[in-house]
Amino acid sequence: MTKQLEQKIAQLDKNRIPVHVAMIMDGNGRWAKSKGFVRSDGHAEGVSTVHRVTKLSSDLGIKYLTLYAFSTENWNRPQDEVDTLMYLIGWAIERELPELLANNVKINLLGEIERIPEEPRQKLFYARNATAHCTGLQLNMCLSYSSRWEITDVVKKLATLAAQGKINPEEITEDTVADQLTTAGIPDPDLLIRTGGEFRISNYLLWQIAYSELYFTPALWPDFSDEDYLDALIDFQNRERRFGMTSDQVHANN
Ligand code: IPE
Ligand code: IPE
Ligand code: MG
Repeated sequence: MTKQLEQKIAQLDKNRIPVHVAMIMDGNGRWAKSKGFVRSDGHAEGVSTVHRVTKLSSDLGIKYLTLYAFSTENWNRPQDEVDTLMYLIGWAIERELPELLANNVKINLLGEIERIPEEPRQKLFYARNATAHCTGLQLNMCLSYSSRWEITDVVKKLATLAAQGKINPEEITEDTVADQLTTAGIPDPDLLIRTGGEFRISNYLLWQIAYSELYFTPALWPDFSDEDYLDALIDFQNRERRFGMTSDQVHANN
C-alpha cells in the first residue's frame, strides 16, 4: 500500500463509511484509444479496476457495491465489441471467483440476464450460487441493465397484479414500487461515482439515486486508482445530506 493511500484511509471516518456505493464504469474505450490500442483492450484493462475496487470496498466494510458493467443500450455497439465484452464478463467472473469466495463477497446480478449469451450466463449463475452463503460485501453486477427497462417492468408487474385484483391501485406506495425493483431489499446508494468525465447518468438506477450523492471524476475507468476511490469517499464524507430538511434540522437529529 502506498503512503498516500495509507494517509487517505486514515482520513476516512470509519463510522461514516457509505453502506452502498454505485459506480458507472466509463472510459475504457478512450483509455485504449489514447494508448493506440483497440477498444476491447480497454475493457480487458478495466477488469483489473473492478478487481481493485471490489477488494478495497470489501476491506473498507462497504456493504453493497453496484457496478454498471453493460447497459441495455450497449447492445447497440458494434457486434465484435459486444462479443468481446460478453466473453470478458464470463472470463473475469470465473477467474475472480476464488478470491471473491476468500473475501466473503456475495455476487448478485441485476438486469435482463437472460439476454447474456449462454456461456458467460452460466458462469455468472455459477458464481452467484457459489457465493450465495457469503456475508461480506454484496457485489451487484448490472448486466443488460437500464433503469427505464427496470421501471417499465415494475409497471407491468403492478398493472398485472391490479388487473388480477391482487392489489388495490389506491394502496400502491413508494415501498410497493421499490419492492418490485431488481434492487428490492437493497438500500439506496449513498454515493454514485461516475468515471470517464461525462456528467450524465446514462439510464442507471434512476429511482434508487433520488437522494444519492453524485461524484464525477475525469479518471478513465482503467486508470481509476485506489487513491481516486478514496478521494470520492472523503468528498462524500464532507457533504451534508439533508433529504429535503434544513441544515439545522439535520444537526438537531444527529
Ligand atoms: C465503459 O467504457 C464500458 C462499457 C460501457 C461497457 P466505454 O466503452 O463506454 O468507454 P468510452 O466511454 O467509449 O471511453
Ligand atoms: C454507461 O456508459 C454504461 C456503462 C458504464 C455500462 P456508456 O459509455 O454506455 O454511456 P454513454 O453512452 O456515454 O451515455
Ligand atoms: Mg462510455
